[in-house]
Amino acid sequence: MKKVGIIGGGAMGSGIAQVAATAGHSVVLFDTKIEALSLSKSKLAKVMVRLVEKEKLTSEEAEAIQGRISYADNLEAIAESGIIIEAIVENLTIKKSLFSSVEKLVSADCILASNTSSLSIASIAAACEKSERVIGIHFFNPAPLMPLVEIIPAIQTSEAIATEARSIIDSWKKVTVLAKDTPGFIVNRVARPFYGEAIRIMEEGVADISTIDWAMKEIGGFRMGPFELTDYIGHDVNYVVTETVFKEFFYDPRYKPSFSQKRLLEAGRLGRKSGHGFYDYREGAVKPEPTTDIALGTKIVNRVVAMLINEAIDALFLNIASAKDIDLAMTTGVNYPKGLLAWADEKGLETVLAQLEELYNDYCEDRYRPSPLLRKMVREQKNFF
Ligand SMILES: NC(=O)c1ccc[n+]([C@@H]2O[C@H](COP(=O)([O-])OP(=O)(O)OC[C@H]3O[C@@H](n4cnc5c(N)ncnc54)[C@H](O)[C@@H]3O)[C@@H](O)[C@H]2O)c1
Repeated sequence: MKKVGIIGGGAMGSGIAQVAATAGHSVVLFDTKIEALSLSKSKLAKVMVRLVEKEKLTSEEAEAIQGRISYADNLEAIAESGIIIEAIVENLTIKKSLFSSVEKLVSADCILASNTSSLSIASIAAACEKSERVIGIHFFNPAPLMPLVEIIPAIQTSEAIATEARSIIDSWKKVTVLAKDTPGFIVNRVARPFYGEAIRIMEEGVADISTIDWAMKEIGGFRMGPFELTDYIGHDVNYVVTETVFKEFFYDPRYKPSFSQKRLLEAGRLGRKSGHGFYDYREGAVKPEPTTDIALGTKIVNRVVAMLINEAIDALFLNIASAKDIDLAMTTGVNYPKGLLAWADEKGLETVLAQLEELYNDYCEDRYRPSPLLRKMVREQKNFF
């Protein structure tokens, strides 16, 4: 079994280290900050206690998992690794310089992976001489609980490395999908309208946040509403992803961020973690009641889901991933109640196209343009599955 080197011992690096050690690998977790390492170690110990209490692990297994992870504050400690997964700060310059140093330390056949959410794998790979061994391996937070991992070969990545990386992550009992090296990969691209269209509906005054959240959960079947979810993720993270995707797509209006969310961020209302976001979580605050109007709720869900489906179809149209992987990514990466392409089949592609055309005609905005693949499939009376 390959030794695994994890670089960055924050939320993601710690979670990935736990996954790799649980799968039986010996792991070296490197971070420049000693405090991050000790925090990571103590958090893992707590998780292990909980898993033993829940009888998900025996105490021997928990001990063995912890024993397989060593913590290091010197980069040389990762030199023996057969695969490195980097999960440091989301900054291209810092990541490139790290990859360049790491390449000089490890053996020639070591796989170098980045867990980046938004940077191009090609640009990270360009920092390495053997760029064909660099790949994106994108876990979701929390890594031990979320089954999905997006595997993202860069244009430089060799097929052998992509196959090997995917089979390693498969052996960690994760659900892997293959995605093209484009902004947001699959999930962070296809999910944009869940937030963006919901916010737009609120900004237009069609409904308030609690009504939209209620509709998306009760009628749409989503686990959380868009406002609850963005408050939970934190606007510092969710808004920044939206803004990055928008910029990276050369300012395609489909991904345009909203002023409502930007102002929350500027005001420091980051969501649950700061006690206030779209909702107020401070003591004594009263959660607003939704208007449980089924007709209004259905209209909201139809609009958001049509936009999500359009995004999924366009990702397929542009060969970002296969239809199967696009649906798998959304059900296992963000817990959507159904795969969006299967949902399109179920609703009827003609219905989805009609909903989008109505929006497009009403607004005359490029944001609502139906994907050419949707039009083609309706013309040819085809389904996705
Ligand atoms: N948090 C998420 O939901 C999430 C999900 C998927 C992917 N990601 C990606 O994973 C990466 C890490 O995110 P995170 O949320 O774990 O961040 P984090 O801030 O929790 O942890 C980052 C860690 O990296 C360390 N670090 C920074 N620069 C370093 C360097 N040069 N060398 C070694 N260690 C260094 C920091 O000390 C910190 O402990 C980012 O690229 C992020 O985009 C995050």
